[in-house]
Amino acid sequence: MTRTQLKEHPYRPHLAVIKEIIQETPTIRTFRLTWKDPAVSAHFSFQPGQVGQLSAFGVGESTFVINSPPTRREYLQFSVMRTGEVTRALHQLNVGDTVGVRAPLGNSFPYTSMKGRDILFIGGGIGMAPLRTLLLTMIDNRADFGDITVIYGARSPEDLCYRYEFDAWRAARVNLVLTVDREFPGWTERVGFVPTILAEEAPNPYNRVAITCGPPIMIKFVLAGLRELGYEDDQIYTTLERRMKCGIGLCGRCNIGGTYVCVDGPVFSGTALRAMPPEL
Ligand SMILES: Cc1cc2nc3c(=O)[nH]c(=O)nc-3n(C[C@H](O)[C@H](O)[C@H](O)COP(=O)(O)OP(=O)(O)OC[C@H]3O[C@@H](n4cnc5c(N)ncnc54)[C@H](O)[C@@H]3O)c2cc1C
Ligand code: FES
Repeated sequence: MTRTQLKEHPYRPHLAVIKEIIQETPTIRTFRLTWKDPAVSAHFSFQPGQVGQLSAFGVGESTFVINSPPTRREYLQFSVMRTGEVTRALHQLNVGDTVGVRAPLGNSFPYTSMKGRDILFIGGGIGMAPLRTLLLTMIDNRADFGDITVIYGARSPEDLCYRYEFDAWRAARVNLVLTVDREFPGWTERVGFVPTILAEEAPNPYNRVAITCGPPIMIKFVLAGLRELGYEDDQIYTTLERRMKCGIGLCGRCNIGGTYVCVDGPVFSGTALRAMPPEL
């Protein structure tokens, strides 16, 4: 996994303009941004899994994963769930408004080491955001990967993000398994919690990498489920959320024991998770 830090002016955001807003679910909006400064546009690069600090001016800054893939550079995408002050302020912005972006921050998925292998994504709710970055990068290099299976769940059909591109994922030979927590009128896909669907699908661990992100309780049961299916710790990756402030390893806000999620993460292997304190 790579570990990067901004080299210059680490607290000064670059300015970006909102080009498009997509209402994903009742509480999640996706923002498609372009850089104001053409020099930033020309030089900005990142890896799947890395995050950015988005600022709503006069309100504050919060952490969000970059969920457009590095293979598609026409805009930079963030999906924001409304939970508190900063996210509420971001949701009030309109197309044409300006935000601040400090990015890329944190480490990334070990993309290169995943080439030649089968892939299993397991996402819950807004946890699909970091998985989408990696999934689309793989779709754009489809020949480099074997089977790609995505198990994605949410509370209800309207809580699933990125519904408008599910057909394109399937067209790229992605085995997409969708689930919601209970029956809904008109819902024809799976019903049940994500860990239950994982156990039912039971994707073979041979030469496969599993990547999961979602609510902590889902991750806990998914990790147990993967180990039950025979996945070894070094075949599993997840991303952790810890409140961040500086995002560059200086303020001590995001640590788990001696691990700083902002620079040592947010991507962690199952092996790294085992070495962390039991508070997880
Ligand atoms: C590495 C990383 C990646 C993230 N990616 C995304 C993303 O792609 N999309 C997205 O919508 N959110 C993401 N988050 C969470 C996001 O940063 C928080 O929801 C946001 O900071 C809340 O800010 P706020 O001012 O609106 O809410 P606040 O007023 O600060 O908090 C509102 C509520 O949310 C809880 N909360 C705030 N921050 C976090 C957090 N980091 N983890 C768990 N609970 C939190 C608070 O405890 C409180 O209950 C990510 C967080 C991290 C650390
Ligand atoms: S957010 Fe400051 S050290 Fe991680």
